[in-house]
Amino acid sequence: MNPYEYIDANCQDFVEELKALLRIPSISTLSEHAGDIRRAAEWLRAHLKTIGMTRVEIFETPGYPIVYAEWLQAGDDSPTVLIYGHYDVQPADDAGNMWQSDPFEPVVRGGNLFARGATDDKGQVFTQIKAVQSLLETGSLNVNIKFIIEGEEEIGSSSIYPFIDEHADLLSADVVVVSDTSIQSLDQPSIVYGLRGITFLEIEVQGPAHDLHSGMYGGLVHNPAQALVEILAQMHDAEGHITVPGFYDRVVALDEAERAELTKTPFTLERLKRETGVSAPWGEPGYKPHERIGVRPTLEINGLVSGWTGEGGKTVLPAKALAKISCRLVPEQDPVEIDRLITDYVNTITPDTVTAEVRPMNRGGWAVMNLNSAYMQAAVRAYEFGFGARPIFMREGGSIPVVVSFQDVLKAPVIMLGFGLPDDNLHGPNEKYSLECFERGMKTAVKFCQEIASL
Ligand code: BES
Ligand code: MN
Ligand code: MN
Repeated sequence: MNPYEYIDANCQDFVEELKALLRIPSISTLSEHAGDIRRAAEWLRAHLKTIGMTRVEIFETPGYPIVYAEWLQAGDDSPTVLIYGHYDVQPADDAGNMWQSDPFEPVVRGGNLFARGATDDKGQVFTQIKAVQSLLETGSLNVNIKFIIEGEEEIGSSSIYPFIDEHADLLSADVVVVSDTSIQSLDQPSIVYGLRGITFLEIEVQGPAHDLHSGMYGGLVHNPAQALVEILAQMHDAEGHITVPGFYDRVVALDEAERAELTKTPFTLERLKRETGVSAPWGEPGYKPHERIGVRPTLEINGLVSGWTGEGGKTVLPAKALAKISCRLVPEQDPVEIDRLITDYVNTITPDTVTAEVRPMNRGGWAVMNLNSAYMQAAVRAYEFGFGARPIFMREGGSIPVVVSFQDVLKAPVIMLGFGLPDDNLHGPNEKYSLECFERGMKTAVKFCQEIASL
């Protein structure tokens, strides 16, 4: 049997196995799920042993554990692939209560597997694991394999950076493969060669020393919720440009060739409406939709908290207001510098009726990959084989901050071998993974290993 036949013969069973992993609510941002995070790591350790990885280990970190596994029996003359993924997931609550089934009780409906983590990233990690199993079981694995699967991706990956620094030898590889992005469609595969960076900040505005009766003090005391939204409203102009001085100074304009290549990315207003439910696009004029997402920076308000938000009304003039914001960053912006520019700007525009504190939280760098490497060309052939069409190249708006460490510390090229679809709803309700993507993804991953074995 060849590995592709093995996949066809076992695909159903693989889906059942994946369900077990998806049942573990390993939500990294909520500390009450710390036990579930550990269970997910243990599950992966056990599973990676069963498929025949020769060394499997859980590494403790100051945060959540890192799962490492290796199979190095292809020998020193064969290339080594380091496969990265994350087993932590986002919370599953959503404002509209839109989940059609329990986010942690996976179900198949209409050829899709629905669960939190189905595509981001348990399903995609599992696609890689099963590809390796299919190669091992059919005696056709001709490259060395290492897995590194972390539990803090959704909260900024802080433990994995020092881990990579300290374990650079253990992790050394000729190429790093990351399955944590999407393709355009089943008929139009795509390879992500750029990811945006990110920085997260909190802005807290303090007004009076404690909450006040809004009738007794309203009109005389500056309401911090109002002061905060006045500050936030000064961060974009009417067209959507960010007004923080210096914000765009390091942004590199695309050359015409890259712009033309990216124009191949299919995008329609219909699709935007279908995926998001909005009636019209928004954003910087002069940039195409995929440019706004892939190559332009943003500043987003992710959350706002102040005053009374419970049932009914309460005539309060709150003492504090908090905003959580994040910026998506592009070459050559520096997250530390951006934090400073935002802090300086907030300090400049804060009225003297309140005080504002800007607290930087997490940061991650942007990454751009070399399109012309032999590994990238192998990925092109692998997608052609798995999806029956030549992939286009894309720059994505999301962030996977650890990619920069793989490039800078391990000095290895990174290939994004993503198998999600644009409507998978990652981070949202009814997250799904297409079973067609699962199957084709396994075959693409197998093909990639076979292609690079013969480089
Ligand atoms: N898998 C995503 C990143 C992604 C999504 C890349 C879609 C390309 C397309 C990842 O799990 C993620 O959500 N990353 C966070 C990073 C952050 C928490 C540091 C993100 O992009 O918000
Ligand atoms: Mn992810
Ligand atoms: Mn994610």
